[in-house]
Amino acid sequence: MAAYHAKLSAFGSSVPKKIVNNFDLEKIVDTSDEWIRTRTGIRQRHIASPGEFTSHIGLKAAQAAIQHAGIDAQSIDLIVLATSTPDNTFPASAVAIQAGLGIHHGAAFDVQAVCSGFIFALSTADSFLRTGAFKRALVIGAELFSRLLDWEDRTTAVLFGDGCAAVVLQATDRDEGIVADKLGCYADARGILRVRGYGTTYGNRGVSFGDTLWDFDGQEIFKRAVHGMSESSAHVLAKAGVTADAVDLVVPHQANLRIIEFVAKRAGIPMERVFVTVHKYGNMSAATVPVALVDAIEEGRVTPGALILTPAFGAGLTWCSHLIRFGERVTPLATTDVELPPCGKTALEMVNAFRAIKDSRGRSAAGLAGPVFPESGARASG
Ligand code: ACO
Repeated sequence: MAAYHAKLSAFGSSVPKKIVNNFDLEKIVDTSDEWIRTRTGIRQRHIASPGEFTSHIGLKAAQAAIQHAGIDAQSIDLIVLATSTPDNTFPASAVAIQAGLGIHHGAAFDVQAVCSGFIFALSTADSFLRTGAFKRALVIGAELFSRLLDWEDRTTAVLFGDGCAAVVLQATDRDEGIVADKLGCYADARGILRVRGYGTTYGNRGVSFGDTLWDFDGQEIFKRAVHGMSESSAHVLAKAGVTADAVDLVVPHQANLRIIEFVAKRAGIPMERVFVTVHKYGNMSAATVPVALVDAIEEGRVTPGALILTPAFGAGLTWCSHLIRFGERVTPLATTDVELPPCGKTALEMVNAFRAIKDSRGRSAAGLAGPVFPESGARASG
């Protein structure tokens, strides 16, 4: 039987422990703590150890969410993983998480909408639960951007970090969970943010895996991000028939503090009702919103019955927003002992190891030059 809603019943996160701060980055590229802080709000980002893969941190977050929910993993019949940094092109990393949980039934697949990925994945799982196709889902946002970054490019290397969080989504007839959603895409702007080096465009072109070059028009991304996040926020509020005053907390995608401030201002919501994590983690792409939700819950910022707005944007240029009604319970039903394994290296040592591997191979310059989208004015950075 079809359910009325899908509620977010438990959360778990697994953010790598090692931290690269802005002063560390000063030792690698021509940048400064002052520039990064004032332009973006970012002070530090977390980096996964070389032995960790997207599915590893995804599995840890999934296990934490399942323990918090106090449920048997076997009751999960759907896993949707949002990531643009999967372990492999195929199989989907969600499948490795299903295997890691010892689940032998139900569906598992990845969704790729870059920083909007978690919201897109949540809508995907929500739709399946409401049709009755599945009963209980795990929705995960996991990214290891440290592997994808061109660490020699100051324009982009300072912006991103690694992280992961998961949510248990449960079919319910109660009036809670995802109240309204709006997903969209400015496909004409897909060339303003692109990573060269991954994908079939570069097959047989002499590009070494892991060598990347970013197309990145920061100012155009900024404008489109504010527009898409604001439009989708206005849309979900109208769809739900509520005003901005009804929103208890905004948990937005966190790429740049100034983007968040513009979106809040346009929505007419004061910053006191916006949950900000960009200073702690930088931009973790699809992991950003779920990690922020976990932190907001742990810090007591999500009250029983709270209405939460989650505007996001990402490469594509994708944009989206959810309006989520929390239930009466905003604390875990059980504790979790799940932890990522320790790593003996410092974060800066790990970053320098990534750089050394790339240096020893030499940059795949000719292959990375690749075709550009004809209609975009994007410039290659790095
Ligand atoms: N350190 C020091 N200087 C820098 C750095 C750096 N890390 N990066 C750029 N600069 C320099 C530029 O070279 C430029 O120098 P110039 O004036 O001599 O040419 C100067 O700083 C100003 O550069 P702008 O690009 O104009 O700086 P801006 O104020 O626009 O800020 C920023 C740049 C922070 C990237 C901003 O445009 C932004 O945040 N845009 C949105 C980006 C974003 O959200 N990306 C995430 C996408 S999500 C996803 O899907 C992956």
